[in-house]
Parts: sequence; structure tokens; C-alpha cells
Amino acid sequence: MTSDLTVGEMAARSGVAVSALHFYEAEGLIQSWRTPANHRRYDRRELRRVAIIKVAQTLGVPLAEVREVLDALPRDRPISAAQWNAAGQVWHNRLTAQIEALTALRDQMGSCIGCGCLSLENCPLYNPEDIAGRDGPGPRRWTRAKE
Ligand code: FES
Repeated sequence: MTSDLTVGEMAARSGVAVSALHFYEAEGLIQSWRTPANHRRYDRRELRRVAIIKVAQTLGVPLAEVREVLDALPRDRPISAAQWNAAGQVWHNRLTAQIEALTALRDQMGSCIGCGCLSLENCPLYNPEDIAGRDGPGPRRWTRAKE
């Protein structure tokens, strides 16, 4: 008897839909192997990778960054505490930046609700630090929506 999981067991254990597991695998975030009958099997260690992906999604981490972290973790042996810490540090910094940005937005919200202009040039709530302007001139959100 093997401790490897079928895709259904993997989905049930991780709380992720089978279709999502297939997507993660197609993206190279997790791996499976095939039985002689061509059925997928997952090593139990893949559960941890799925857990990392789920946490990252909760934090709004882009898939490319999730891949970077997962690629740095070994597949063939247990993950050391130092490796976990290094992986966690990447998102610690991201979370810190997000918290600072959200705090600034929260503090600005009161005056913006009173103002209501939602100016593309001046409103720190609608367009903080003129991030839309970095994409180029003109109405960037409208242009992007049409592209
Ligand atoms: S709504 Fe006017 S500055 Fe934000």
C-alpha cells in the first residue's frame, strides 16, 4: 500500500477543486506521477505545496511569485526550517508593504468620501501615487479595458 494520493483524495484533503489541482500541475506548481493504468497519484508532500498556494492566493500573491518560492523548496527531501523561513520572508515583506498601503488608504478614506472627486491625478484612494500614470498617458483604465 502506498501513501500517495489520488486526485480525488488530494482534492478532499487540500480543500481545492480537482480542476484547480490540474491547473496548478499544468503551471508546474505541483507534480504528480502516473500509475500503469495512467491514473494520477500525488506524493503527500504536494499537500504542503497546495497549502502554500492557497495561503498565497489569500494574500494576493501573483502566481509568478508563488512559483519562485515553490521552485526554491526541495521536492526530494523534507523542507528545513531555514528554507521555510526564507520562503516566509518573501511574503512577510510583501504583507508589510500591503499593510502600509492599506493603512494609508484607510486614513485617507474619510476625506475622500467627503470629497468624492476620485480624481485620476490627485486622489490617493482611486489612483494612489498615480500608479495608473506609470502605464502611459491618457485614460489608462479605459484604454486597458479596451485592449
Ligand atoms: S475622492 Fe477626491 S481626493 Fe479622493
